[in-house]
Amino acid sequence: MQHAQISRVYVWQLPVRFYHWINALSVLVLVITGYLIGSPPAVQSGSEASFGYWFGTVRFVHFLAAFLFFFNFVYRIYWGFVGNRYARWQNFIPYRKEQLEEVKEVLKVDIFQRSVKPLESVGHNALAGITYFISFIAFLFQCITGFGMYAAMSKAALPALFAWIVPLMGGDFAVRQWHHAMMWFFVLFSMIHVYLVFYHDYVEARGVTSSMVGGWKFVEKHKL
Ligand code: HEM
Ligand code: HEM
Repeated sequence: MQHAQISRVYVWQLPVRFYHWINALSVLVLVITGYLIGSPPAVQSGSEASFGYWFGTVRFVHFLAAFLFFFNFVYRIYWGFVGNRYARWQNFIPYRKEQLEEVKEVLKVDIFQRSVKPLESVGHNALAGITYFISFIAFLFQCITGFGMYAAMSKAALPALFAWIVPLMGGDFAVRQWHHAMMWFFVLFSMIHVYLVFYHDYVEARGVTSSMVGGWKFVEKHKL
């Protein structure tokens, strides 16, 4: 490993990197504003009540971030069909035997911290691919329930498409509960995700963390 010949591989194209950071930023804003909507603090102020509109602002920011999050997500779905081999949908669904083998290998590294032998994938490893796929389903759920609730507050065409969700899921209260509970998925996902990115950066030594900034990974030549 020490003397291995290293090649530079352009893995994450610009649209994937833009998607990633817009997504990370909007999720952060949605979690913070969503939490405040669910548990509003009693803000005391000496000014005229009608001047205090902080909760309206929090909701506005939530909805603004929600539209950004939604269109960014739609763009990533499209890019999964036209992007390079590392961006395509095949990477997210383990349908080949080698991918399932790799899931087992990565679990050994991530959970049992056993072997630190370099993993085979240049793009996402098979386990990472599955967890991103699960997170995409969570994104979808959050958009459906969010726009379902938003339909009652808006005259716009897009939310109106989701108006049927609220009666289907048993009313506003139930939808808000589900939407709220799913927030914790994002909190957990982000914490574990960032930890694993840093950990794999260390065990693989391929520059994983910075790959989502510059697009490049550094891979042993005999692996290509
Ligand atoms: C990662 C994505 C998201 C997270 C983590 C999130 C989180 C939350 C949370 C925790 C609440 C408070 C629920 C409660 O009452 O306890 C909330 C409310 C709400 N969210 Fe989201 N949300 C996300 C995406 C969206 C999207 C895409 C929309 C679409 C417009 C949306 C629309 C709404 C609406 C309409 C409410 C209710 C606001 C109110 O009644 O004042 N959210 N969100
Ligand atoms: C400082 C924070 C973060 C860093 C350093 C980071 C870094 C990375 C890196 C390096 C990858 C590619 C890993 C690989 O080779 O498999 C990746 C992928 C990904 N990350 Fe993050 N991430 C961060 C925050 C987040 C957050 C907050 C979210 C959303 C909740 C997120 C969602 C994703 C998704 C969905 C992918 C797959 C990207 C794709 O193929 O479209 N990340 N991240």
